[in-house]
Formats: sequence, structure tokens, C-alpha cells
Amino acid sequence: MNTVLLDKSKHNRNRFDCGISALNNYLKVMASQQAKKDNTRTFILEDDNDESRIIGFYTLTMTPIDLNALPDKLQKKHHSSTSGGLIARLAVDANFQGKGFGEWLLIDALRKLLTASDTVAFPVVIVDAKDGAKHFYEQYGFTAFKDTENRLFITIADIRASLS
Ligand SMILES: CC(C)(COP(=O)(O)OP(=O)(O)OC[C@H]1O[C@@H](n2cnc3c(N)ncnc32)[C@H](O)[C@@H]1OP(=O)(O)O)[C@@H](O)C(=O)NCCC(=O)NCCS
Repeated sequence: MNTVLLDKSKHNRNRFDCGISALNNYLKVMASQQAKKDNTRTFILEDDNDESRIIGFYTLTMTPIDLNALPDKLQKKHHSSTSGGLIARLAVDANFQGKGFGEWLLIDALRKLLTASDTVAFPVVIVDAKDGAKHFYEQYGFTAFKDTENRLFITIADIRASLS
């Protein structure tokens, strides 16, 4: 399995339905425009039987870090850092959910961010979990920020340790 950059001339975005319309609409309307403007990158996991069919996708970009919301030890360690990697969206089509594709996409996204951080260093990866998906991220080592409901982070050091 492999992810490829979203190609709106190839990938059937209208057929994708993960059950959350905000995520479906992002893929349909925004993802390609945002990539063209170099604001985000969206990666697609295609169905091997039909490459136009989207099994799942994720979107990556950078985001400011709220240092005050990090645990004290990390605040000290990263006090001069301003940005973190952001998994801005991640979703699997409802027909393919519960088969391990979400886990596979998350690990693929973390690998890409780890590689990016080797060149342009940043200390954490952040995700905004949609309703009900917080535990999905927690089981892979993400921790909720202080005082936030659904924003979670994992350090690049932890990603490196678990993926290498
Ligand atoms: C959340 C989502 C990405 C998970 O993808 P998936 O392919 O169904 O998940 P997987 O089959 O890879 O499951 C991996 C593990 O996560 C667990 N899991 C799946 N969805 C979960 C959720 N919403 N909350 C908590 N755990 C979840 C599974 O039980 C599994 O754990 P197990 O191995 O102990 O059984 C997918 O259901 C989805 O796209 N949902 C709608 C959009 C959404 O909520 N996106 C979240 C990002 S904001």
C-alpha cells in the first residue's frame, strides 16, 4: 500500500463518504485548492482494484504551537519552538472502516512528518480529533493538550522511537 498526492482529475472525490460531512466536503471542495496554494498537502490511499476510488485520505500542514498548553517539561525543552506539524484531516470511507486503514494512514502520515522534521525541525505533531475520535489517537500515543477537548499532540522524539 502507498499514498499518493490528491489528483482531482483522477480521484473520485464525490464518491468518498466517511460519515462526517465536514470531512467529505473538505476533500471535495478545499483540498485541491489548498494544495495548489501550497497551504496543505492531501494524500490519498487508493483502492487497488480501482485507482479512482478513495479508501482514505489525510491532510498535512504546519500550525503554531501553544507552548502554555504543553506539559511543563516540554514547555522548557521546546521554549524556542513556534511550529508543529499538523494532521489537519484524516478519514476513511465508511465502506472501508474497521479494517485497519485508519491505523495505516495515521502511521503513514507520522512517517512523512518525521521525515519532514529531519529537514525542517519541529518538535511535535498535533491533531484536532473530530467528535468521538480522540481515543483513536490516544491509543497511538497522542496526549490531549491541557484545557482542550479534542486537540492532541505527540512529540517527534516519541514518533522516532516508535517508528524506527
Ligand atoms: C476514525 C477513523 C479514521 C478510523 O479509521 P478505521 O479504518 O475505521 O480504523 P482502524 O480499522 O484502522 O482501527 C484501528 C483501531 O482504532 C480503533 N478505532 C477506530 N475508530 C475509532 C474511533 N472513532 N474512536 C476510538 N477508536 C477507534 C479500532 O477499534 C482499532 O483498534 P483495535 O485495533 O484495538 O481494534 C475512521 O473511522 C473515520 O474516518 N471516521 C470518520 C472521520 C473521523 O472521525 N476522523 C477522525 C479524524 S479527525
